[in-house]
This record gives sequence, structure tokens and C-alpha cells, in this order.
Amino acid sequence: MKSNRMIIAVFSLMVIGSMLLAACGAAGSGKTKVGLSFSDFAVERWKNEEVLMRKLLEEKGYEVISQEANHDVKLQNDQIDNMVAQGVKGLIVIAEDGAAAATAVDKAAAAGVKVLAYDRLIKTKNIAAYLSFDNVEVGRQEALGVMTALGLPGSTTWTKDNPAKIFMSGGSPTDNNAVLVRQGQMEVIQPYIDEGVITIVADQWVPNWDEAEAQKIMENVLTAQQNKIDAVIASNDGTALGELEALGGQGLAGKVPISGQDATAASCNSIVKGEQTVTVYKDIRLLSPKAVEMMDTLLKGQTISGLQEYSLKVLTGEDLEGNIQALFLPVQQVTKDNVYELIVKSGFQPYEDVYRDIPEDQRPPKP
Ligand code: BGC
Repeated sequence: MKSNRMIIAVFSLMVIGSMLLAACGAAGSGKTKVGLSFSDFAVERWKNEEVLMRKLLEEKGYEVISQEANHDVKLQNDQIDNMVAQGVKGLIVIAEDGAAAATAVDKAAAAGVKVLAYDRLIKTKNIAAYLSFDNVEVGRQEALGVMTALGLPGSTTWTKDNPAKIFMSGGSPTDNNAVLVRQGQMEVIQPYIDEGVITIVADQWVPNWDEAEAQKIMENVLTAQQNKIDAVIASNDGTALGELEALGGQGLAGKVPISGQDATAASCNSIVKGEQTVTVYKDIRLLSPKAVEMMDTLLKGQTISGLQEYSLKVLTGEDLEGNIQALFLPVQQVTKDNVYELIVKSGFQPYEDVYRDIPEDQRPPKP
């Protein structure tokens, strides 16, 4: 009788224990698991953000699983499914393809996983939140930097009879950021097009934001236009550097204004050398901690404050149903004039990288 009661008591304790472990979401370490899903590590920023988010999540007591999809849309979805199967309670996703990722993200959300669309929109209302920079402003600042370098407004060189010939170089067509960036670029240049002082002679988007691909596209544009290109509105630093390779091949690097974004070490170096004209500074040292804070709030079952509601229609320009909660951090234009202040002094990029190959006597003092 007594031993029967003992058995029942021990059994009950075992059941309660396993229920508690299941509730924690991690039978192994006892820690709640968070998954990070990256489109690729080809672009400088993503690896840095992985390191930062992993560190901050681990400091908060989470177990982190991280996967990188090498630009493979199907692989990214499989990796997301797999992380859900491993019991992650939260997912931070940098989508290769905002439409395709929705399939895996919808399944994850249905399983109760909180999904944060990081930097890039995932086209489903089932994300818990979307955190990015102001991508439309990125486009505006890129175009403004290039227009200023062309002397617009007020140029006497560029007139209705002699409009500046512009190559528009979009980002990856499957990344909604590329669309938002283009929206900002067009806002700035449309009045000049209407006035007739600039004209778009070529417009192409670069699959995967790939640098080598961008170089090839630029080579073809230069051939088709017999090198008559007066400016390039490029959408990020990687593609700008690929295009600068092509421009350099024709003796045009440093002569044709060209934009980018991310303030990568290589592009900041190109800016101080007078080749790339402008980049846009997006401080990932603010974005990554914000994402971790948001994920932590979600996993504690609390509501994130400071978000704003947007319709998927407005964010994508597509006929999509539903609204999402989003936050966009500010961005800043970087040129030769402020790269030292904004990028070097703030420690965003190392002094040695930004002034690589610049003679000692032409460098500013080390901060
Ligand atoms: C990001 C950019 C990045 C690009 C390529 C975009 O979604 O906003 O910062 O350069 O992807 O990875």
C-alpha cells in the first residue's frame, strides 16, 4: 500500500518535471532556444550582426542556434523548419526572399514561435514584428549624394539639351529593401527627370546584391552606352564596388559619381580615395541590441512598445493583406567630408581600414 503511494508520488513528480522542461522549451540545457536565420554571410554586416546578437542573447540566458543559407531560398526555409523542430521559441530572420520565407515563417508562427523580421521584411502578417532601418531614407540619401556630386540643383553643365546620363542599379529583386530604397531614390531624382536635366539610360537589379554580378552588369551597360554614363545610383556598397571595378577598367573610377549603403570598410576606403561618392551609415550596433531586446520582450509574453502599424500593401506596393508592427531606425549620409567624424571616430570602422593605402601625411590624426 505504502510502496504503491511512493510509486504514484515519484511518477507524478516525473510527469510534472517533464512538463516543466517542455514549457522551458529545451529539454537539454534547460534554456529557451532562439534561432537566427541568415540569408548569407557574403556581405560584411551579417556576420558582425550574428556575433553581436548571439552574444547578447546568450548574456540574457538564451541558447542560440544560428544558420546561414548561402543565398539559397529553399535551404533557408528548410533551416527555419529545422530550428522549429529543435524547439526554438523565437526566430530572428534575415530573409533571402521576403515572399518565399513567408512559407516557413507561417508554419513557425502557427507552432507558436515568435518571428522577428530583421532588416528585411517577410511578406506575411504572421511575423511578431519587423525591425529595420529607414530604407526609403537610405535611397533618398544615396540619390542626394549623387545629385550633389553632379552639381544638382543649379548645374550649368546638365541641361535639357545635355541631360546627365544615369544608370540605376537596384539591389536584389527578392529583397523588399531594394524596393524601398528605389522608392527613396526616385523621390529625389524624379523632379530632375521631369525637368529634363537627367535621364535614366539603364536600369537593372542585381541578383543577391552580388558584387561580381554588379561588375558584369556595369561592364555591359558601359559597352551599350559607349561609356557615356555620368552617374550611377547603386543601392549598396558591395554592388557599388563591383561597378567601380568596371568603371575603373574604362578609366572612369572617381569621375563618375556613385552611391552605396552600409559604410563597409572597403567602401569607406574607396570614399577617402575619391572613388565611391557616398554611402549610408546604418549603425548595426543599435539594430542588433534592439532586436535582442524585442525578442526578449516577446518571449516574456510582453508587448513591445514604440512600434508602429504598417500595412503590407504600403510596405511592398503589392496587393498583400494584413498589417504588421514595425520600427525603423534612422540613417545618415556619409561622404569624404564626414567619414572621419561619423565612421572612424564612432569606432564603426577601424582607422587602419578606412585609410588603407593613404600616405601617413595625408591621413587625419588617429582618434
Ligand atoms: C540590407 C543592406 C545590405 C543588402 C545586401 C539589404 O537588405 O538592408 O544593408 O547591403 O541587403 O546584403
